[in-house]
Amino acid sequence: MTLPPGKSLQPWFQTVGDVGPVIDWSTLFEKDQPVEIDIGSGRGLFLLTAALQHPDRNFAGLEIDFTEGRRAAERLLKRSLPNARVIGGDANRVLAEMIPPASVDSAHVYFPDPWWKTRHHKRRIFNPAFTQLLARVVKPGGFVHHWTDVADYFQMVRGLMDVHPEFLTCTPPAERDASNDMDYQTSFERKKRKLGFPIYRALWQRR
Ligand SMILES: C[S@@+](CC[C@H](N)C(=O)[O-])C[C@H]1O[C@@H](n2cnc3c(N)ncnc32)[C@H](O)[C@@H]1O
Repeated sequence: MTLPPGKSLQPWFQTVGDVGPVIDWSTLFEKDQPVEIDIGSGRGLFLLTAALQHPDRNFAGLEIDFTEGRRAAERLLKRSLPNARVIGGDANRVLAEMIPPASVDSAHVYFPDPWWKTRHHKRRIFNPAFTQLLARVVKPGGFVHHWTDVADYFQMVRGLMDVHPEFLTCTPPAERDASNDMDYQTSFERKKRKLGFPIYRALWQRR
Protein backbone atom coordinates (compact mmCIF):
# COMPACT_ATOMS: atom_id res chain seq x y z
CA MET A 1 0.00 0.00 0.00
CA THR A 2 1.33 3.43 -0.87
CA LEU A 3 -0.51 6.43 0.51
CA PRO A 4 -0.85 9.50 -1.70
CA PRO A 5 1.88 12.10 -1.04
CA GLY A 6 1.07 14.23 1.99
CA LYS A 7 -1.41 11.69 3.42
CA SER A 8 -0.83 11.39 7.13
CA LEU A 9 0.73 8.27 8.55
CA GLN A 10 0.16 9.52 12.05
CA PRO A 11 0.34 8.11 14.62
CA TRP A 12 2.46 5.35 13.05
CA PHE A 13 5.07 7.74 11.64
CA GLN A 14 5.93 10.86 13.62
CA THR A 15 8.95 13.11 13.41
CA VAL A 16 11.08 14.19 16.36
CA GLY A 17 9.24 17.52 16.17
CA ASP A 18 5.89 15.75 16.59
CA VAL A 19 6.91 13.71 19.65
CA GLY A 20 9.38 16.08 21.38
CA PRO A 21 10.91 17.73 23.18
CA VAL A 22 10.70 14.71 25.53
CA ILE A 23 8.88 11.53 24.54
CA ASP A 24 6.02 10.43 26.74
CA TRP A 25 5.73 6.73 25.96
CA SER A 26 2.20 6.58 27.40
CA THR A 27 1.08 9.22 24.87
CA LEU A 28 2.94 7.71 21.91
CA PHE A 29 1.35 4.29 22.44
CA GLU A 30 -2.22 3.28 23.22
CA LYS A 31 -1.23 1.19 26.26
CA ASP A 32 1.33 1.93 28.93
CA GLN A 33 3.49 -1.20 28.77
CA PRO A 34 7.22 -2.07 28.42
CA VAL A 35 8.98 -0.24 25.57
CA GLU A 36 11.59 -1.61 23.16
CA ILE A 37 13.42 0.58 20.64
CA ASP A 38 14.80 -0.42 17.24
CA ILE A 39 17.63 1.94 16.30
CA GLY A 40 17.83 2.34 12.50
CA SER A 41 14.59 0.45 11.97
CA GLY A 42 14.75 0.59 8.14
CA ARG A 43 11.77 -1.09 6.47
CA GLY A 44 10.31 -2.15 9.80
CA LEU A 45 10.22 -5.95 9.52
CA PHE A 46 11.41 -6.27 13.14
CA LEU A 47 8.83 -3.72 14.37
CA LEU A 48 6.00 -5.47 12.53
CA THR A 49 6.87 -9.01 13.61
CA ALA A 50 7.76 -8.13 17.19
CA ALA A 51 4.63 -6.01 17.68
CA LEU A 52 2.40 -8.81 16.36
CA GLN A 53 4.14 -11.44 18.50
CA HIS A 54 4.20 -9.34 21.68
CA PRO A 55 0.99 -7.30 22.01
CA ASP A 56 1.91 -6.71 25.67
CA ARG A 57 4.99 -4.69 24.67
CA ASN A 58 5.45 -1.41 22.74
CA PHE A 59 7.99 -1.06 19.90
CA ALA A 60 9.42 2.26 18.67
CA GLY A 61 11.63 2.45 15.58
CA LEU A 62 14.11 5.34 15.29
CA GLU A 63 14.89 6.05 11.65
CA ILE A 64 16.78 8.97 10.12
CA ASP A 65 15.66 8.20 6.55
CA PHE A 66 12.04 9.39 6.38
CA THR A 67 11.34 7.44 3.18
CA GLU A 68 12.30 4.21 4.92
CA GLY A 69 10.52 5.26 8.11
CA ARG A 70 7.30 6.04 6.26
CA ARG A 71 7.52 2.76 4.37
CA ALA A 72 7.82 0.91 7.69
CA ALA A 73 4.93 2.92 9.14
CA GLU A 74 2.70 1.94 6.19
CA ARG A 75 3.19 -1.71 7.17
CA LEU A 76 2.14 -0.90 10.75
CA LEU A 77 -0.84 1.18 9.63
CA LYS A 78 -2.05 -1.64 7.38
CA ARG A 79 -2.47 -3.78 10.51
CA SER A 80 -3.60 -0.82 12.66
CA LEU A 81 -0.98 -1.91 15.20
CA PRO A 82 -1.50 -0.08 18.50
CA ASN A 83 1.94 -1.05 19.85
CA ALA A 84 4.37 -0.02 17.09
CA ARG A 85 5.48 3.43 15.96
CA VAL A 86 8.30 4.93 13.87
CA ILE A 87 9.98 8.16 14.97
CA GLY A 88 11.70 9.99 12.11
CA GLY A 89 14.95 11.59 13.22
CA ASP A 90 18.54 11.08 14.30
CA ALA A 91 18.71 8.31 16.91
CA ASN A 92 21.66 10.00 18.63
CA ARG A 93 19.52 13.04 19.36
CA VAL A 94 16.51 10.96 20.36
CA LEU A 95 18.61 8.87 22.77
CA ALA A 96 20.45 11.86 24.21
CA GLU A 97 17.61 14.35 24.63
CA MET A 98 14.19 12.85 24.07
CA ILE A 99 13.96 9.42 25.69
CA PRO A 100 13.48 9.61 29.47
CA PRO A 101 16.39 7.96 31.32
CA ALA A 102 15.99 4.26 32.16
CA SER A 103 12.64 4.05 30.35
CA VAL A 104 13.47 1.38 27.75
CA ASP A 105 13.31 -2.38 28.34
CA SER A 106 15.36 -3.37 25.30
CA ALA A 107 17.34 -1.58 22.58
CA HIS A 108 17.84 -3.37 19.26
CA VAL A 109 20.59 -2.33 16.84
CA TYR A 110 20.40 -4.53 13.76
CA PHE A 111 22.73 -4.23 10.78
CA PRO A 112 23.83 -0.62 11.34
CA ASP A 113 25.35 1.06 8.28
CA PRO A 114 28.89 -0.37 8.04
CA TRP A 115 30.59 2.68 6.48
CA TRP A 116 33.15 0.40 4.87
CA LYS A 117 35.95 2.89 4.15
CA THR A 118 38.35 3.45 7.05
CA ARG A 119 38.06 7.19 6.68
CA HIS A 120 34.27 6.87 7.12
CA HIS A 121 34.38 4.69 10.27
CA LYS A 122 33.78 7.79 12.36
CA ARG A 123 30.25 7.88 10.92
CA ARG A 124 29.39 4.48 12.42
CA ILE A 125 26.58 4.80 14.94
CA PHE A 126 28.24 2.51 17.50
CA ASN A 127 31.00 4.45 19.24
CA PRO A 128 31.88 5.16 22.90
CA ALA A 129 29.36 8.03 23.16
CA PHE A 130 26.59 5.83 21.72
CA THR A 131 27.24 3.11 24.33
CA GLN A 132 26.78 5.81 27.00
CA LEU A 133 23.46 6.75 25.42
CA LEU A 134 22.39 3.09 25.52
CA ALA A 135 23.36 2.96 29.20
CA ARG A 136 21.32 6.13 29.75
CA VAL A 137 18.04 4.90 28.27
CA VAL A 138 18.02 1.15 28.99
CA LYS A 139 16.60 0.20 32.39
CA PRO A 140 18.65 -1.81 34.87
CA GLY A 141 18.00 -5.43 33.91
CA GLY A 142 17.08 -4.44 30.34
CA PHE A 143 18.87 -5.63 27.21
CA VAL A 144 20.82 -4.44 24.16
CA HIS A 145 20.63 -6.69 21.09
CA HIS A 146 23.07 -6.27 18.21
CA TRP A 147 23.32 -8.26 14.99
CA THR A 148 25.47 -7.60 11.93
CA ASP A 149 27.12 -9.43 9.04
CA VAL A 150 30.21 -7.17 9.20
CA ALA A 151 32.93 -8.98 11.18
CA ASP A 152 35.13 -5.96 11.92
CA TYR A 153 32.14 -3.85 12.98
CA PHE A 154 31.08 -6.65 15.32
CA GLN A 155 34.55 -6.86 16.87
CA MET A 156 34.58 -3.09 17.36
CA VAL A 157 31.16 -3.19 19.10
CA ARG A 158 32.19 -6.11 21.31
CA GLY A 159 35.33 -4.21 22.23
CA LEU A 160 33.17 -1.36 23.52
CA MET A 161 30.28 -3.25 25.09
CA ASP A 162 32.00 -6.30 26.63
CA VAL A 163 34.14 -4.04 28.83
CA HIS A 164 31.47 -1.42 29.50
CA PRO A 165 30.95 -1.13 33.27
CA GLU A 166 27.16 -0.76 32.88
CA PHE A 167 26.65 -3.90 30.77
CA LEU A 168 27.00 -7.62 31.33
CA THR A 169 27.73 -9.84 28.31
CA CYS A 170 25.07 -12.54 27.82
CA THR A 171 24.70 -15.54 25.52
CA PRO A 172 23.13 -14.40 22.23
CA PRO A 173 20.35 -16.36 20.50
CA ALA A 174 21.48 -19.16 18.18
CA GLU A 175 20.73 -18.98 14.47
CA ARG A 176 17.54 -20.80 13.54
CA ASP A 177 16.08 -21.84 10.20
CA ALA A 178 13.45 -19.51 8.77
CA SER A 179 10.00 -21.13 8.78
CA ASN A 180 8.82 -18.91 5.89
CA ASP A 181 10.19 -16.25 3.55
CA MET A 182 9.58 -13.41 6.00
CA ASP A 183 10.73 -15.25 9.11
CA TYR A 184 13.85 -13.17 9.68
CA GLN A 185 14.65 -10.65 12.41
CA THR A 186 15.04 -7.79 9.89
CA SER A 187 15.09 -7.15 6.15
CA PHE A 188 18.88 -7.01 6.24
CA GLU A 189 19.13 -10.33 8.04
CA ARG A 190 16.89 -11.83 5.34
CA LYS A 191 19.01 -10.35 2.54
CA LYS A 192 22.36 -11.35 4.05
CA ARG A 193 21.29 -14.87 5.08
CA LYS A 194 19.98 -15.50 1.56
CA LEU A 195 23.37 -14.44 0.19
CA GLY A 196 25.03 -16.92 2.56
CA PHE A 197 26.79 -14.40 4.81
CA PRO A 198 27.46 -15.38 8.44
CA ILE A 199 25.50 -13.30 10.96
CA TYR A 200 27.15 -12.20 14.19
CA ARG A 201 24.87 -11.76 17.20
CA ALA A 202 25.47 -10.24 20.62
CA LEU A 203 23.39 -9.55 23.71
CA TRP A 204 24.15 -7.45 26.78
CA GLN A 205 22.18 -6.83 29.96
CA ARG A 206 22.14 -3.44 31.68
CA ARG A 207 23.48 -3.88 35.24
C1 LIG B 1 21.69 -1.02 6.90
S1 LIG B 1 20.16 -0.36 7.39
C2 LIG B 1 19.48 -1.65 8.45
C3 LIG B 1 18.01 -1.50 8.66
C4 LIG B 1 17.37 -2.54 9.59
N1 LIG B 1 17.87 -2.42 10.95
C5 LIG B 1 17.60 -3.92 9.08
O1 LIG B 1 18.35 -4.70 9.71
O2 LIG B 1 16.99 -4.27 8.04
C6 LIG B 1 20.63 0.88 8.58
C7 LIG B 1 19.50 1.82 8.90
O3 LIG B 1 19.93 2.74 9.92
C8 LIG B 1 19.44 4.03 9.61
N2 LIG B 1 20.26 5.02 10.32
C9 LIG B 1 21.55 5.34 10.10
N3 LIG B 1 21.98 6.28 10.96
C10 LIG B 1 20.92 6.58 11.75
C11 LIG B 1 20.71 7.49 12.81
N4 LIG B 1 21.70 8.30 13.24
N5 LIG B 1 19.49 7.55 13.38
C12 LIG B 1 18.49 6.73 12.95
N6 LIG B 1 18.62 5.86 11.95
C13 LIG B 1 19.82 5.77 11.35
C14 LIG B 1 19.56 4.09 8.10
O4 LIG B 1 18.78 5.12 7.53
C15 LIG B 1 19.10 2.69 7.72
O5 LIG B 1 17.70 2.62 7.54
